Amino acid sequence: METKLLVLEDYKKTGTLSEADLAKLDEAAAILKQGGLVAFPTETVYGLGGDAMLDEAAQRIYAAKGRPSDNPLIVHICDIEQLDKIAKEVPEAAKRMAITYWPGPLTMVFRKSAAVPYETTGGLSTVAVRFPNHPVAKELIARSGTVIAAPSANISGRPSTTTAAHCIRDLDGRIEAIVDGGACEIGIESTILDVTTDQPVLLRPGAVTSEMIEHTLGISIVEDAALKGPLDEGVKPKAPGMKYRHYAPKAPMVLVRGDGCSRKIAELLYEHESKGERAALICSEECLSEIIENSLELAMDSQRKEAAQNALNALSAENPEIRSRDGKTIVKVFGHRGDANRAAHIMFEFLRETDDDKVDFIVAEGCAEKQLGKAIMNRMKKAAAWQVIDT
Ligand code: TXA
Ligand code: MG
Repeated sequence: METKLLVLEDYKKTGTLSEADLAKLDEAAAILKQGGLVAFPTETVYGLGGDAMLDEAAQRIYAAKGRPSDNPLIVHICDIEQLDKIAKEVPEAAKRMAITYWPGPLTMVFRKSAAVPYETTGGLSTVAVRFPNHPVAKELIARSGTVIAAPSANISGRPSTTTAAHCIRDLDGRIEAIVDGGACEIGIESTILDVTTDQPVLLRPGAVTSEMIEHTLGISIVEDAALKGPLDEGVKPKAPGMKYRHYAPKAPMVLVRGDGCSRKIAELLYEHESKGERAALICSEECLSEIIENSLELAMDSQRKEAAQNALNALSAENPEIRSRDGKTIVKVFGHRGDANRAAHIMFEFLRETDDDKVDFIVAEGCAEKQLGKAIMNRMKKAAAWQVIDT
């Protein structure tokens, strides 16, 4: 199958949809109406969309992603009234959450109405619903005349896609079209909150943080066991997707956090490089300076000193995101320490690049698990198969 690339030229330049862009969205909407699949941008990550009310479209989504069909899809709406057709009941807490955070990076799990096919919900009697806050997503859903099932637009197990180029990489030849609306602002998937129980349960942390939810609802929320660590054999997570290996770069990865993090990372890099291995380092500017200082201390031979000096030079580069090569270690700097928005925005791209860079080992600076940091660490821990070193 040939995948058509629909580039929203004017939207990408100005942030406003022109007539020419809208004509391309009509083309994409026509594909969706016929049961076809279209990847499109949302403010979190790109979605792989199909008509949520058509069981064949849902089946095609699972096939295109290589996703197990017991892993349910999120249904995307563009008007709050559509919720009543999908959800059997909307509890008070959910209403309050919807008023506060929709449209936005929040997904809520409801009991499903009879209208939603079991193919879309992976056989579950509940349905996950999200009202995205992205002009392209909202227009596309509205023009399709239906509600859109959309998992993240990546091959199952790979990091989520945050640009059209990532979608092409994973899905070219597998779906009818990709709408290119530029890079996704948030870069990390939506928060998922199960509102079918009296006390809401956080199934996946995201940009609508636990702190924000608790503030809005005035009650504490429960966190699903799948967020705390790898689940024991046979234990079923509430969000079926949480049991699968996720966001996995090809190389093994380790997360290092705590006050002694820079020293530990410098030691790890030194250890791997002495074995002739190539490492990727993902960290903040501040951490990089500290690592370089530590590396200089560790480095006894002149070759290694030069490498550390090269990495130091990279810091003064105009754009610190331009990946620099210090000979062996590939340095990926996400911005200042504590800039969680920046880290979330670039994280999946960095993980994807480590595959292209063909590194043997990835080491990343961890962050505090509060607010958006909780979502970042959730994805990073999964990418690292829960290998975390506390210093
Ligand atoms: O930001 C997002 O949520 C993106 C964009 C495209 O909207 N979508 C996304 O979908 O991340 P996906 O399929 O990659 O992740 C959805 C997660 C999966 O872990 C799935 O198991 C869970 O949501 N899920 C879906 N329906 C559910 C349900 N009825 N009950 C519990 N978990 C559900
Ligand atoms: Mg996904």
